[in-house]
Amino acid sequence: MCGILGYIGDQSKTVDVLLQGLTRLEYRGYDSSGIAIMQDGRSKVFKSKGKLSKLKTKVKKHSPKGLLGIGHTRWATHGDASQKNAHPHVSGGTSVVHNGIVENYLELKNELKKKGYRFYSDTDTEVIAHLIEEMSNTGLCFEDAARAAFKRIEGSYAIAVISDRDPDKVIATRKFSPLIVAKGDHENYLASDVSAILPFCKDVIYLEDGDVAILKRDEIKITDLDGNQIKRKVKSINWDPISVEKCGYRHFMMKEIFEQPRAILDTIRGRFSEETGDVYFEGLDSSFFKDVQRIVVLACGTSYHASLIGKYMIEEIAKVSVEVDIASEFRYRNPIIDSKTLAIAVSQSGETADTSEALLEAKGRGAKTLSITNVMMSKIARDSDCVIYTHAGPEIGVASTKAFTTQLIAFYLFAIYLGRIKRKLTKKQSIEMIKQAISIPQLLEITLKLNEQIKELAKEFFKYRNFLYLGRGINHPIAFEGALKLKEISYIHAEGYAAGEMKHGPIALIDEDMPVVLIAPGDGIAYKKILGNLQEVRARRGKVIFLTSDPCAQELKGIVDRVIEVPGSSYLLSPIVSIIPLQLLAYHIATYKGTDIDQPRNLAKVVTVE
Ligand code: G6P
Repeated sequence: MCGILGYIGDQSKTVDVLLQGLTRLEYRGYDSSGIAIMQDGRSKVFKSKGKLSKLKTKVKKHSPKGLLGIGHTRWATHGDASQKNAHPHVSGGTSVVHNGIVENYLELKNELKKKGYRFYSDTDTEVIAHLIEEMSNTGLCFEDAARAAFKRIEGSYAIAVISDRDPDKVIATRKFSPLIVAKGDHENYLASDVSAILPFCKDVIYLEDGDVAILKRDEIKITDLDGNQIKRKVKSINWDPISVEKCGYRHFMMKEIFEQPRAILDTIRGRFSEETGDVYFEGLDSSFFKDVQRIVVLACGTSYHASLIGKYMIEEIAKVSVEVDIASEFRYRNPIIDSKTLAIAVSQSGETADTSEALLEAKGRGAKTLSITNVMMSKIARDSDCVIYTHAGPEIGVASTKAFTTQLIAFYLFAIYLGRIKRKLTKKQSIEMIKQAISIPQLLEITLKLNEQIKELAKEFFKYRNFLYLGRGINHPIAFEGALKLKEISYIHAEGYAAGEMKHGPIALIDEDMPVVLIAPGDGIAYKKILGNLQEVRARRGKVIFLTSDPCAQELKGIVDRVIEVPGSSYLLSPIVSIIPLQLLAYHIATYKGTDIDQPRNLAKVVTVE
């Protein structure tokens, strides 16, 4: 959840690269930050509690200069959010930044304390700095001391370290936590996340667990923990650097909401034939899925909501039974899994600890595994037998938007793919379904035109303290997701319910202070039933915001307070359209409330702790 960065190369660029990179990493975690710069053979450390802007002001005052440096943005796990707990942590001439958790830190801390090391922070990271210093004091060179220390650390980590003893190197390692190194021209980079260095270079090496990277100005050497040299492939990243800029939008979230037509197009592009009705995914082999009899889907947060909708799609199209599990719960029951079970892990980041662990649990119990993720070579992608990448591009706003809708379209295509394998779909049916998928980007363009109307709506409703979202059928998870968006960024209490459940509890909450968002696209049975809910809410003087694709809904104006009219789409794809106004509603309400939209309090974009 924290972000780390390292740079070696041009003295005039170091501070800038670190601060720019940290700005791009800030979305991962943001309660404190810090950098260490090697200036005239000695590392200078700057740290600040709170937003990165505070660190920037501090650094500017001193304008340090140096050939190399490391940086960190933190989301507290061990120790509260404070300056003393911010990274880098220092011991003698060693400065360390770290993502993850040192599981044996207490044991190491006691051992180091006995040797006279003093601890200044409450973090587990500080033991790493002391350990490397201790190894150096036994006479080992920086590289060997670092490797010897890394060998002693248990847990999950990505670490970058610099030392006054050898001031021309940055050393880094990883285990269960992502880390990449990238080659520039007489300069080299390292980062926990590609987006941090995207504007600087495109050719990256994804380090493997146990790799140690030694970065010099003109060389990147990779070894194992024993010092044996290793060769790793260089990969070219095709994300556009512009995708990590706001491009005139006030917030990344708004930019990402508006990117959805393009992101959907990128996710479906090249994956189907309109003539044959076939769907293809690079790296997927149809024989792998032939004997799948059951599917379990594992995910957290917004990805979990996408998975609930994915269940409707797969069961409807491919007629395979699907269960969806909250990843953090899956491991702590005794799930029934066999070799005919397909476990699908769904994760924007591909790093969420709970999802990653649930995937491994399913794998260990003999399931076939597939992941749906947005991040190439992420842990979840690497741990699964095969991967479907969503092509949403980097998602920076903490509240997930385009990742969600691209997951939905990926599920839809996968359902057609599986339906064809299972012979549950005729060619004609799949051609028709593909046509509907192709129409989605344009429908989203039309839906996004509601922006001004939703802004007005938000102005009217932003002072309410509670909201209820109700949906039915395939749109009932949209009620969960709409409510989640609102609480994440506006801090308003919001509940999402399957509309049929209203009478079993939430109805007790309804009065004139409770706006109820009724999600009712389409004209099928779900729509008719929701009209019944509408009457029940009205009878209790609840305020109704009615989201529908029914053109006659304007006639309901006397009954509902506000109508949001979205364009009609096929039932299975309607959630992709209905979520858009709800993302916009959450965004505008949060803007009126003046909250921090891209970096809401207490949340992190990537949750790498259980
Ligand atoms: C965090 C993020 C959510 C996200 C969830 C799962 O809580 O704030 O936006 O939905 O993690 O993340 P994943 O990367 O696995 O989809």
